[in-house]
This record gives sequence, C-alpha cells and structure tokens, in this order.
Amino acid sequence: MSTRHFLTLTDLSTHELRQLIQRALELKAMHRRREVYEPLKNRVLGMIFEKSSTRTRVSFEAGMAQFGGSAIFLSPRDTQLGRGEPVEDTARVLSSMVDAVMIRTFDHQMVERFAAFSSVPVINGLTDDYHPCQLLADMQTFFEVRGDIQGKRVCWVGDGNNMCNSYIKAAQLFDFELHIACPEGYEPPAALLEESQGRAQVIRDPVEAVKGSHLVATDVWASMGQEEEAQKRMRAFASYQVSPALMDHAAKEAIFMHCLPAHRGEEISMDMLDDPRSVAFIEAENRLHAQKALLEFLLR
Ligand code: CP
Ligand code: NVA
Repeated sequence: MSTRHFLTLTDLSTHELRQLIQRALELKAMHRRREVYEPLKNRVLGMIFEKSSTRTRVSFEAGMAQFGGSAIFLSPRDTQLGRGEPVEDTARVLSSMVDAVMIRTFDHQMVERFAAFSSVPVINGLTDDYHPCQLLADMQTFFEVRGDIQGKRVCWVGDGNNMCNSYIKAAQLFDFELHIACPEGYEPPAALLEESQGRAQVIRDPVEAVKGSHLVATDVWASMGQEEEAQKRMRAFASYQVSPALMDHAAKEAIFMHCLPAHRGEEISMDMLDDPRSVAFIEAENRLHAQKALLEFLLR
C-alpha cells in the first residue's frame, strides 16, 4: 500500500476519521489508567518546526515517548533546510532515517512537496492554509463532552485563516453546519466554501451567526507570519470578540473552543476561557490523545 500522509483532513475518509476519534478517546482512558502501551517501540518521528509551538511540539514529543518511540526536533536555524537545501532532497534523506515526519511551516506547498518525495508518512503540524491536527482534537473534544457532531451547528468567529479552513473541511467530513462570522476581506477562500456544498456559509453579524450554535470557536486575529498586520487587524476585527455575552446567543448547551494560544482582550474577552462553557483546556490536552491515535493509524 502506498504511504498515507495527513496534510489536510480530507486525506482521511469520514469513516477513518470517526474511528480515529474513538481511538483517541480510548487512548485517553488508557493514559488516565496509566496503562503502558508501546506500539511504536524504536520508531522515530522527525519534527520540522519553521514556526513556534508549545502544544504541537510537546504533544507529538510526549506522544511518541509514551508509545515507546522518540521524536527529533528540527528547526531551520540549525538544519541545512535553513541554508537552502531543497525540500525534495531533505524529504528523501529524512524519510530514509525516520518513520514519520511532522512539519509546521508557512507555505502549504512545502508540505506537499515534502510528501511527494517522502517514503514515510508526513503530518501537517500547521501551515498558512490548514491545521488538521487541531481539528482532530477539536472533534474529539466535541464527541467527548457533547457526543456526535453530525447535524449540529458550529460557528467560527474571526479570521478566515488556517483553522477556519480546516473547520470547513471538518464540516464536509463530519457533516455539520458551519457559520463563519468574519469582517469583509477576511473570508476563507471562495473555492473552499464552494467545496463544502452548502455546509459552510459566511454570516457577517456575529450575533446572527452564533444563534443556535452548539459549538463556537475562534482563534487569534493575526496568525504567525502576520505580525506586521496586527494593528490593522485589531481594528477590522474589533466587533468579533467572543465573550460570555456573545455565547448567550448560542444554543443553551453550547460550548466554546480556542486552539490556543489566546489573546485575552482581543479575540476573546478577559473572562471567556474561565466561563463554564469553555472547553479550551480539554481541547488542548486532546492534542496529545488525538495525535497518538493518528500516529498509530499512520505507522501501524
Ligand atoms: N494550537 C496549537 O497548535 O498550539 P501551538 O502553536 O502551541 O502548537
Ligand atoms: N491561526 C494560528 C493558529 C495557531 C495555533 C496561527 O497560524 O498562528
């Protein structure tokens, strides 16, 4: 069988994704029971980080260690990638030495080029366009605290960014309705909205958009690499802050997610993460369990 990669959510079928979420929940329970389970003994994950990370790095590294394997952190500062060695050459070399490669970078094409020349699975740990690993954790979290997300309404408030794009793909695969509340000029790509076959739509007014939603999610207004636009974005997004008051317009049982890191006083109010509807820290922990399920799926 040819090598499977995980560059966007659509690299897995709905069936595979649902199984993976169930497995993540099992792995979480096993972890809670302190069961030793080492299906990836002696296996090695290479991790290329061209952008900062707390959750992604630690969850992959801890996950590999818990599975009996190990992970190598690689930054462009101290590899030849940073000195211009072609992605394709790097892919051929690294994949001859490790069992899987995780990449966090800017241009999504970089992970596609890497995967094309890699003999082992490549995992997208965030690009400018997508953040599929985060969506695994978000979906796991919804299943864990509320059950099946199929047929539910989800509202994305804020930037039409990599997270929003991955939510659009999730809407297709998990079959939920997605409202996107964003200011003009910050929409996700029209082609992606079209692909969603009506499951995702832009609704400008955040109050209108969150109405009846079972999940409200947001993210920073300026993503990594957009630091210079931060001031301009702050003004454009001013009326898109998620607060307990905005959540009051959502469904009674609505929950709130944020992939973190969060900027209190910007995309969320100072108190949003402490609101009982926020599951952001469960969501963060689930990065570990969801990615262990992904590693097990790709490597066994
Ligand atoms: N949510 C997320 O990917 O966090 P990090 O940037 O800390 O990895
Ligand atoms: N949209 C954010 C997500 C960080 C996890 C970024 O790309 O910086």
